[in-house]
Amino acid sequence: MKHVIPVVTLRTRQDTRLLFELAEGGLPLAEITFRTPYAAEGIRLCARELPSVFVGAGSVVNEEQAKLALGAGARFLVSPGLSEPICRLAREAGVPYLPCAVTPAEIMHALGLGIQTVKFFPASVYGGIQALKALSAPFPTMKFVPTGGVTLENLKDYLSLGCVAAVGGSFMTEGDVRSTCKEIRRIMESAL
Ligand code: 3PG
Repeated sequence: MKHVIPVVTLRTRQDTRLLFELAEGGLPLAEITFRTPYAAEGIRLCARELPSVFVGAGSVVNEEQAKLALGAGARFLVSPGLSEPICRLAREAGVPYLPCAVTPAEIMHALGLGIQTVKFFPASVYGGIQALKALSAPFPTMKFVPTGGVTLENLKDYLSLGCVAAVGGSFMTEGDVRSTCKEIRRIMESAL
């Protein structure tokens, strides 16, 4: 079954309860974004208190953030673009690195670095499902993680694409998290 990766922005310690709710809902992984000053501390807390949850760092835009994230216990790094220095740091630390690539040139850059899976962000802006289908023709081995504009309504369509390895988004972090997770699990199973 393909994964759905919750993209989570933590502002305070209280916000980390979201990770409990996601795990209880059957989504025991999260990309905690470096969009707030609390990000590194939030990753550290979750890595310590929730070892069964696979926690990584998202929106990592420079080496300093990458080092902070790795030091806090991030088990994967995600960037909104492709950074060779961050790629190197992740490899040295032995953790997966998921950079974003949306154009053919960016995808070729990633392939040249031996990267086999890239984030496709913001998916809805860069052509969504149509774009992924078109890009898969010249890049049949590349796997994508569409994120940005994914909703409960289009999740199944994304998950059903052969070139999609996983789907990310924040759509499960608002409202009733447990019931949204339940619906996501149902869609994940039906998209097999
Ligand atoms: C990300 O960083 O991956 C996005 O902010 C998630 O996009 P979404 O909020 O549209 O799901």
